Amino acid sequence: MLSIVVLISGGGSNLRALLEAAADAEYPARIVAVGSDNDAPGLEYAEAFGIPSFTVVPTAFADRASWGDELLAQVESWSPDLVVCAGFMRILPPRFVAALSPNLINTHPALLPAFPGAHAVRDALAAGVAETGVTVHIVDEGVDTGPILVQRVVPVLEGDTEFELHERIKTVERDLLVQAVLDIANNRIALTSRASSA
Ligand code: GRF
Repeated sequence: MLSIVVLISGGGSNLRALLEAAADAEYPARIVAVGSDNDAPGLEYAEAFGIPSFTVVPTAFADRASWGDELLAQVESWSPDLVVCAGFMRILPPRFVAALSPNLINTHPALLPAFPGAHAVRDALAAGVAETGVTVHIVDEGVDTGPILVQRVVPVLEGDTEFELHERIKTVERDLLVQAVLDIANNRIALTSRASSA
């Protein structure tokens, strides 16, 4: 049984999808805790499912490194097999990444390496691409640069707003993330620094 800590910053619909999947006894992973960098609305899903949560707010620390050290201490106190960033909107400091990667993954609303960073959906729209998508990847020291585990294409429709496109992406993303965690738990995806899938 894979134990997971999920990190969020916002609404938490990806977290909710994982919580719902993990509620099925057949799903070989369980969420042991949820962490956030703020009082994120998605923390309500952790509460609803009876999962402990913790919040580590960057402004409470002198610098990013000390924030990251506290976040790492909180995460490691749960001894997770895997940490999943699901809408976690902070760049993780080197000590955090070094301690956890490659058992540290992120979901990103674009087909990396295209459109990295915090505005991937807006950037894809601005670029006028006909299709974008979602990527689940291992987190390394870069910004959305770690080894790619799985991707799925999502069409861009005429007249899409950023919100409409992101919602379409999220419907695919939630299924892809639940499947990716399942495949990791079943060793169909091996988490190595070079990301190979069986
Ligand atoms: C997701 O699309 C994630 O890839 C991006 O922000 C969104 C978070 O959505 N970084 P939610 O909080 O899981 O609903």
